[in-house]
Amino acid sequence: MDLYDAILSRRSVRRYRDEPLDKNTLALIDDIVDHVRPLVPENRFRVLRRDVVSGEDLIAAMGGYGRILTPPHYLVGNTIGSRRPLVDLGYRMEQIAIQMVQLGISVCFIGSLGREENVRIRFRLNRESRFGAFLIFGRAADGITGRTINAVILRASSGASKLVVGDVFYNGSFKRAGVPPKALARIIDAGHAAPSANSVQPWRFLWRADTLYLFLRRQNSRYGSKPALQEYRCFDGGACMANVMMAMESTDLRGDWVLLDEGQPDVPVHPVELEPLAKLRLR
Ligand SMILES: Cc1cc2nc3c(=O)[nH]c(=O)nc-3n(C[C@H](O)[C@H](O)[C@H](O)COP(=O)(O)O)c2cc1C
Repeated sequence: MDLYDAILSRRSVRRYRDEPLDKNTLALIDDIVDHVRPLVPENRFRVLRRDVVSGEDLIAAMGGYGRILTPPHYLVGNTIGSRRPLVDLGYRMEQIAIQMVQLGISVCFIGSLGREENVRIRFRLNRESRFGAFLIFGRAADGITGRTINAVILRASSGASKLVVGDVFYNGSFKRAGVPPKALARIIDAGHAAPSANSVQPWRFLWRADTLYLFLRRQNSRYGSKPALQEYRCFDGGACMANVMMAMESTDLRGDWVLLDEGQPDVPVHPVELEPLAKLRLR
């Protein structure tokens, strides 16, 4: 499948065929993992690939919500570094997810932010390592029953009500959201197609002076009540940035994301509930 089609067609799959992928496919996945592009190159990124033990309830063991039926494998992506580690993780893990979709493999992230310490112990990870979510993968259960069950679990996991692009894109200033200009449509559609914990979709785009700015909503009650869970916005924001970066390859647009810091002088005026994340100066 074409990369852009994979970005737009990816959906979280929660019902899998109860069988492992073959060795060649797993080797291809290891290769994808080895060649992922960093957002913050100095962060130390590692990925463990594991098989699900039959009967194991990953959601109960690792946090997350909803139900996942008989997934055969998962990845534990983790990173160590002081600069935006969760954004960088979302950026790298989404590239892996999309390239798996290109291979016809189904995926779903399972959030683990509330349980980071448990996960560190279970996988013997460094105390400083961060990870936002596991990436479950395998072949989707086919047939009408598999699809129906997936749709039911999807609704229960709040993935059914989504914002549209016209809700999250701003041109010139934050006065009113609207539809992106044609030249940007492909990359904005791709960014907006990113997965997000509880389907929060925290990203907001501002197009100003040939620069695409990405902001995140600081708070969203749908992430949960614990303050630590608000950090899902960072993982989700990184996934959104990865989709924009990958989608650029299918357009004439070129540019690199630059992370922004709070209080940086060149950040456009923005509502207090938004946090500046990054900018993409388009050439
Ligand atoms: C960081 C993160 C954590 C997630 N955690 C879960 C989870 O615990 N359980 C689940 O069923 N889906 C989980 N998802 C998948 C989201 O529910 C899904 O991305 C969202 O509903 C949008 O649907 P889509 O991925 O099909 O576009 C997670 C996604 C992300 C990015």
